[in-house]
Amino acid sequence: MCATPGWASVCGPAVFQVEFELSRGGTSRGRTAVIVGAQWGDEGKGKIVDVLTQTFSVVARYAGGHNAGHTVIINGKKFILQLVPGGILRPECTSVVGNGVVIDPLAFLKEVASLRVAGVKVDGNLFVSNRAQVILPYHRMMELGSENAPGRVKIGTTSRGIGPSYEDKMGRRGLRVADLLDTHLLRTHIENACREKNMIAHALFNSDPLDADKMFREYSDAARELVPFVRDTALLLNRALAEGKSIVFEGAQGTMLDIDHGTYPFVTSSSSTSGGAATGTGVPPTSIDTVIGITKAYCTRVGSGPFPSELLGAEGEDLRKRGNEFGAVTGRPRRTGWLDLPLLRYAGMINGISWLVVTKLDVLDHLTEIPVCVGYKVDGKETDEVPAQACGYDKIECIYRNMPGWVSPTQAIRTVEGLPKAAREYMAFIEKETGAQVGMISTGPDREQTILVDEFMHRLGLESPAARD
Ligand code: GDP
Ligand code: IMO
Ligand code: MG
Repeated sequence: MCATPGWASVCGPAVFQVEFELSRGGTSRGRTAVIVGAQWGDEGKGKIVDVLTQTFSVVARYAGGHNAGHTVIINGKKFILQLVPGGILRPECTSVVGNGVVIDPLAFLKEVASLRVAGVKVDGNLFVSNRAQVILPYHRMMELGSENAPGRVKIGTTSRGIGPSYEDKMGRRGLRVADLLDTHLLRTHIENACREKNMIAHALFNSDPLDADKMFREYSDAARELVPFVRDTALLLNRALAEGKSIVFEGAQGTMLDIDHGTYPFVTSSSSTSGGAATGTGVPPTSIDTVIGITKAYCTRVGSGPFPSELLGAEGEDLRKRGNEFGAVTGRPRRTGWLDLPLLRYAGMINGISWLVVTKLDVLDHLTEIPVCVGYKVDGKETDEVPAQACGYDKIECIYRNMPGWVSPTQAIRTVEGLPKAAREYMAFIEKETGAQVGMISTGPDREQTILVDEFMHRLGLESPAARD
């Protein structure tokens, strides 16, 4: 663990009060790990973050918004988290919504209210960055108009206003959480933005205009409720690290949905890959120790766009049913296919993945043979290159290898040794083909249905819950 010189003076002024209890002091920096989706999202990141909070102290979301749906099941009780980080389900954990997230205040408050009803602690342990961008109703209006406009590429978005909000951020005309709390600024911002967006949406999509006064009243009320959660979270996180606390950076979406590295334009509008963890939280890249990629034992995607190993027809339908592959947020059926190793290798390269977590192994329990895409052919030639253009995927022909299935239940299995031989061989094959090590295997949706590989636990310093900093 390296101590980072110089910055302790920046993040250690006495005026700043750390809101959470420090169970241990110390001079060395806390451990950090990024959890990143290695496919097109819905890999099971929520479940894995929840398992890791056994020992990590802080969870920080770094990108996306309430387009995410992270499912955590604890003793049969289901939580679907959209904006609130996975750490919230352990009261001793601190949860942070970072500056890279786009936050719909109404959606956030609704999620917080439902967590309160479920008896989850959300006061004093949940913080939102004062630099996060705000999603406002005109972002949804612009997205709906654009998705349905004739001649436009339909992305199949979640209709949450994510893209237009990131557009305003990059266009330097967005509203940030700190501005939301400034009543005067909020009013002028909403008045100006509504005038502009109403004109554009009417001209382009014939949309009905939004009422700025009504919007101001609704969002100034929400701002008042948001105040207790708002902090300078970059300061909070760096301070926590300096005090020896460990942080999990919770990714949303997945590598192939990343704005730069995904299947553009069929992507989301944020940096969902591991690089986004630094810019999306204000923790420097030099403070990131490990990147953990999450992959299903097969592959899914929701929304439009390329999917080389997609299964169409009855086989795909069967995998969808067995894996319960329906969107956690929109309920849309997910497209299904076989594991795609060229894409996994690409995700490994882009994110710097050293550990893989393989989820939903149990969904393949019935198969006698499991096809895996081991390479791509383009114009009859083998290639490991992932196309830059979405249309480039049309030329890809997947090379498949059939792995032997195990045809026995894996659901209750908690150790690697307890897995059927063919399942262990499937894991070893993934390791050999990707160069990453498998650190965890998920054999069911519940927190307890997880295999933790000893070396992974040891390397991450996660031997036991007592190891929490
Ligand atoms: P995320 O967005 O990456 O957090 O993933 P989602 O929560 O959207 O989707 C993953 C789905 O798979 C959820 O319904 C989980 O409850 C479920 N799940 C996670 N791990 C496993 C597993 O190992 N086996 C099975 N059968 N389901 C799992
Ligand atoms: P989690 O965090 C799966 C997809 C949408 C659409 C595209 C753009 O649960 O893994 P957007 O609303 O972001 O502009 O939609 O991205 N998408 C996801 N797919 N899991 C997600 O999040 C997703 N978030 C966005 O379906 O294709
Ligand atoms: Mg999801």
